[in-house]
Amino acid sequence: MKVLSGIQPSGKLHIGNYLGAMRQHIELQDKGEAFYFVADLHALTTVKDPDLLRENVRDVVLDYLALGLDPEVCTFYRQSDVPEIPELAWFLTSVTPMGLLERCHSYKDKLAKGVAPDHGLFAYPVLMAADILIVNADVVPVGKDQKQHVEVTRDIAQRFNNLYGDVFSLPEPRILPEAGVVPGIDGQKMSKSYNNTIGIFLEGKALRQRVFSIVTDSRPIEEPKDPDENYVFSLMRHFISAEETEEWRKRFLAGGLKYSDAKKRLKEVLDETFGEAREKRRELAARKGFVEDVMRTGAARVHPVAVETLARTRKACGID
Ligand code: ADP
Ligand code: TRP
Repeated sequence: MKVLSGIQPSGKLHIGNYLGAMRQHIELQDKGEAFYFVADLHALTTVKDPDLLRENVRDVVLDYLALGLDPEVCTFYRQSDVPEIPELAWFLTSVTPMGLLERCHSYKDKLAKGVAPDHGLFAYPVLMAADILIVNADVVPVGKDQKQHVEVTRDIAQRFNNLYGDVFSLPEPRILPEAGVVPGIDGQKMSKSYNNTIGIFLEGKALRQRVFSIVTDSRPIEEPKDPDENYVFSLMRHFISAEETEEWRKRFLAGGLKYSDAKKRLKEVLDETFGEAREKRRELAARKGFVEDVMRTGAARVHPVAVETLARTRKACGID
């Protein structure tokens, strides 16, 4: 089984990304042949500052490695190091109906938000199809928002195969067990775009300040509270045991709970959960040339696979 997924280096990764995506990527890394990559060509559609893009790529690589992605176990690379991917995208784009892309929610959502789309944003799902088909992945673990893009990949692969013969296998999306939608400090979905995140590698005062700004209501201490309507509880429950979750639930319902006590505990469990990874990240970041070496090794490993798929694609189309 070939597993593949990508993550965009479009900003600092947060605990929503961790719970919704990264955690499962790391768990799946030894469950077959796993390919994970930093989707820097995709990020070009939103990050237009070159220095920032460089920094984001480095951050994502360090974050994943510090959290336990093992580049010996899986193949971890940077999308732009594999030029066969954008080349394959052209072969795919030539069999992709406009209507298929016009129906994509993520594109329609951005239009609705008033984003003036460039062609890259519109064509994004074709590049994503190339990411997946270049290794002929069987399983693509993604968040719910990306399911449609994997279905578009299947449609494109099928159209190509119908025209030119079987070159691509059809990937299955694997929807990452919903950590639900993890709320941000303002209660909306935690997202890099909403400035409401808690960074995975935030610590000390900065983390405390973030946790203590989680929005709570102004009900008096004595009043019983519904834990499921409280964002501190919604975040905390992902990091504590079932027994402790039950205890907090009871404390909320009983009344007499100070929100600051729950916030203190949240800060503490974040420190417990990510403390080791923070140390490891510092250590990895200090190693000169380390990120580059990891990316180079990953690229070298995926390259022969990419070359082979592209050669078969070219041949099938009569460009060989
Ligand atoms: P963001 O909204 O912060 O830009 P992305 O769209 O880049 O995040 O998402 C990267 C991955 O993290 C996706 O698989 C997505 O499903 C997951 N993810 C992002 N935000 C959340 C969240 N608040 N709760 C759960 N999963 C999330
Ligand atoms: N579009 C994905 C996201 O925004 C990232 C991505 C790019 C991806 N190419 C991919 C995910 C291929 C899975 C497979 O989260």
